[in-house]
Amino acid sequence: MTEDLSFKNRVVVITGAGGGLGRVYALEFAKRGANVVVNDLGGSLGGQGHNARAADVVVAEIKDRFKIEAAANYDSVTDNAAGIVQTAIDRFGRVDVIINNAGILRDSSFAKMQDAAFESVVDVHLNGAYKLSKAAWPYFRRQNFGRVVNTCSPAGLYGNFGQANYSAAKMGLVGFSETLAKEGYKNNINVNCIVPLARSRMTESIIPPHILKNLAPEKIAPMVLYLCHESTKVTNSIFELAAGFYSQIRWERSSGQIFNPSPESFTAEAILDKWSSIVDYTDKPFNKVSHPIQLSDYNALIAKARQLPANSQGSGRIESL
Ligand code: NAI
Repeated sequence: MTEDLSFKNRVVVITGAGGGLGRVYALEFAKRGANVVVNDLGGSLGGQGHNARAADVVVAEIKDRFKIEAAANYDSVTDNAAGIVQTAIDRFGRVDVIINNAGILRDSSFAKMQDAAFESVVDVHLNGAYKLSKAAWPYFRRQNFGRVVNTCSPAGLYGNFGQANYSAAKMGLVGFSETLAKEGYKNNINVNCIVPLARSRMTESIIPPHILKNLAPEKIAPMVLYLCHESTKVTNSIFELAAGFYSQIRWERSSGQIFNPSPESFTAEAILDKWSSIVDYTDKPFNKVSHPIQLSDYNALIAKARQLPANSQGSGRIESL
């Protein structure tokens, strides 16, 4: 029988935990023994206004159902992320896990998008995650333990009409996470991204009810908890989660085309000529499709091209033009 994943004596900070996905995470962590800081500004979907009630209700629910201490925090991740971490320190003496989950939407077509809509969305999702991570990082390093989950979106990975602001912020979180994962590795700080799809006020007006009924946020929480457990070594990864489907996303590099490294090779016409090879995702004898995860995987590519003799003849993917 698989061992229970307990969070006893762990302190978990969840932003935007007054509703939607964040609330479900908060309940699940508390059920498994964690002290949770329930942060929520309590504003509208567009980020206007504030209300302490959202966080207070979740804290009351945790105390009532699981008889464990939880703390409310009402700061905006954009204005006082350090204060959110300070709540964890003041109330529970440590911070072990941060879930960057707070979010707003201010959709409009790119042609009509105002600067304020772009900047405020990037500010909450990307800058907010940066600020909270920055505040927690020194504690993680000192205790040689930390877990970070950043919340990306399908709109970030693939783009979506009306969401240039949101897509930019969410994809920004992927690059942010990939670097923090590398920097945190030696201190046992794991950093991962999730790409959820779930029923919440964010989706209930855009996804039809018959699909929404399958998108319980409770189906997202198990992966978030797994990624944050002390026994989990997974880092530097992106997971798609929806309706009970769990999968990992990774980068894929085509088998590609190496041109003979002579100045005459590097022309737009050569690209046109070899286009189908450049975008070919099948393995070839000398060039395999690959899945890069770090900068050295990129550097290896350059080294490979540079090592070719000036007039290499086409052996599979190596072309002399
Ligand atoms: P939600 O609107 O129910 O939850 C977001 C929470 O963040 C709200 O309670 C809100 O008050 C809080 N919040 C907003 N701005 C804040 C700020 N500046 N400081 C602190 N709290 C703030 O929406 P949902 O769906 O639960 O979203 C959670 C996260 O998941 C968001 O980052 C969202 O972009 C992301 N996401 C959700 C998807 C879904 O299908 N529901 C799909 C992809 C991503």
